[in-house]
Amino acid sequence: MKNTTEDKKVIDKLQEDAQEFFLGKINGNLWPYVYGAPQDNNDPVRGGILYNKVLEGEQDYYLYKYEAELFQTKGHLLTSLIGSNATFIELGPGSEQSIRLKTLPLLKTCPHLSGYLGIDISQSFLDKVIEVIHSAFPSIFIDGIQADFTQLKDLPEFAKPVVFFKGSTIANLKRYEVPVFISYIKKLVGKKHYLLVVHDANQDEISLMKAYDNSGVAVFIENIMYRLYRDVIRVGMEPEQFRYKPEWEPENHELKHVLTATKSQKFELNGHTIEIEEGQKFHTFSSFKYPIEVFQNMLSLTGYKPIDFVLDNSGRMAAHLFEG
Ligand SMILES: C[S@@+](CC[C@H](N)C(=O)[O-])C[C@H]1O[C@@H](n2cnc3c(N)ncnc32)[C@H](O)[C@@H]1O
Repeated sequence: MKNTTEDKKVIDKLQEDAQEFFLGKINGNLWPYVYGAPQDNNDPVRGGILYNKVLEGEQDYYLYKYEAELFQTKGHLLTSLIGSNATFIELGPGSEQSIRLKTLPLLKTCPHLSGYLGIDISQSFLDKVIEVIHSAFPSIFIDGIQADFTQLKDLPEFAKPVVFFKGSTIANLKRYEVPVFISYIKKLVGKKHYLLVVHDANQDEISLMKAYDNSGVAVFIENIMYRLYRDVIRVGMEPEQFRYKPEWEPENHELKHVLTATKSQKFELNGHTIEIEEGQKFHTFSSFKYPIEVFQNMLSLTGYKPIDFVLDNSGRMAAHLFEG
């Protein structure tokens, strides 16, 4: 029952966002829909599966592996600053692989960990997260909340909370959305706490383009159009008629995920007629690549105090510890 209600909310929001996107009112707003799951074997919507293929098959997509390496080799430098008896509240913990490669290695460096709470929109991810964390830490408090982490009304109270947001997910928010989201998290926790957050600080266009401008990422991002077609448009659209190309805007530290229409199209969406011309560009969402100082300043404006940060060996992936 809960799943159905949650799904309806997601579809309603997708309909609203798709309308703004195609009418050109807002762009770059489609990141929450990129990890779509197939409803049956013939369903072409498979963003989550395609993302995993990027992780497995695209050697130059460094973000995930360098972040894992960062936690595995330098996580202790941050957790030793947090100290003992912490409870980690993880936002969007993700797949079993992500837990095993990133979350667990970090948690294992915590002196006397007290607890772990995962918050994810996906119940199946949460079930697995709880199982994996429990097998590594059988005697600590472990729980999961199936919810949209942007819409929480409250959080359970913990003696020493650490909000943990890995995977550079924060960098998919638009720049003006970051302080809003971070202030909301701060208010939600409502007491002194730590924030451990990861982002990609890489400014080098060559390695960025290698990471994103490849066939694996292209198929993954192009899949958003199949999701829009399946969930909100249904007739008249040709989702296969879009081609992916990333665009790097160094002055904004913004890597834009752009789809270009390869054919003119006309379809209805929520009472609006959408006309697309061949060659028209659509900015689906962005991955922001904030330099360390820019990121620290952005969070400082919301009242968080930077404590420290660590970088992976390439100097690209950054894990920050803030106190709020
Ligand atoms: C791409 S995965 C990244 C997972 C993980 N953070 C990592 O670094 O591997 C995004 C995760 O966040 C969850 N998620 C995305 N948007 C969410 C939201 N608004 N509320 C709760 N969970 C969300 C997804 O279900 C998924 O588990």
